[in-house]
Amino acid sequence: VLAEITRITFGRAPAGTAGSGIPSPRLDASSWLSDEFDFWMFNRSIDEARSLILIDDAGCGERFPSQVTTYCQRRIAARNAHSATPLFERILDLHRLLHDLRKPLVRADYDHSLDTWQWVLRLDPEAPFALQAAALLHDVERLVSEPDERVEQHAADYQAFKDAHARTGAAMAAQLVRDAGASEDEAVRIAELIVHHEQRSADDTLGDADALSFFSLNSSGYADYFGPEQTRKKIDWTWRRISPEARARVSSLRLRRDVRTLLAEMVNDGSVTPTH
Ligand SMILES: [Fe+2]
Ligand SMILES: [Fe+2]
Repeated sequence: VLAEITRITFGRAPAGTAGSGIPSPRLDASSWLSDEFDFWMFNRSIDEARSLILIDDAGCGERFPSQVTTYCQRRIAARNAHSATPLFERILDLHRLLHDLRKPLVRADYDHSLDTWQWVLRLDPEAPFALQAAALLHDVERLVSEPDERVEQHAADYQAFKDAHARTGAAMAAQLVRDAGASEDEAVRIAELIVHHEQRSADDTLGDADALSFFSLNSSGYADYFGPEQTRKKIDWTWRRISPEARARVSSLRLRRDVRTLLAEMVNDGSVTPTH
């Protein structure tokens, strides 16, 4: 039986990277599903690649390309009419220049910001300009507070810590989009969205996108960095704030076994199984 082969084509590599002449990495379904799968190395292999070749050697069917496409969506960089514009391009370039990608935590934040933007488009294909820009820029404050080490685990009041992060980030993001040429109205709207991005609210596309990006892209790295105790708290905090629609999407993601187990313990209603 021949293994099913699929190619995922990526968008242009971010400014300041090579982006061409790099052979397309290959990914087998059996490695993707393995408990030992190295997400960090896989991410580095696609940073500058033009495409990725998927080889389904485990009879996974549609689920394999669909999970990998979601996981790699930051490199596909889909747009809608509100982001396929020179203004959004300038924002992406300024945002990229803020990041020193040699630093692992900054690299992780950069990937998370692009991934959150892409989750917004998945949840709302008609997402307006301000919502997409806010998604891209929602965590810029971490470039100031946590580029070399994380501190959130030390916060006496986690919600207060996150709200302060959101307020500072809102001002930084507003300045960045003004510099890129956005209108004052748009800058104010983007700042408003970012100020509230760590709070639960009704109809919260940005909050859902942020949480989905945590589960999809960041959860295994988070667990490696912070350990199981803090990861349990983070999963608990994140799960509580997302909508039922976003929760339903979490169970179809490729989650590492330790993360899936922590989540299943907490959810406890059978919608998330410890094995996948
Ligand atoms: Fe945040
Ligand atoms: Fe975030």
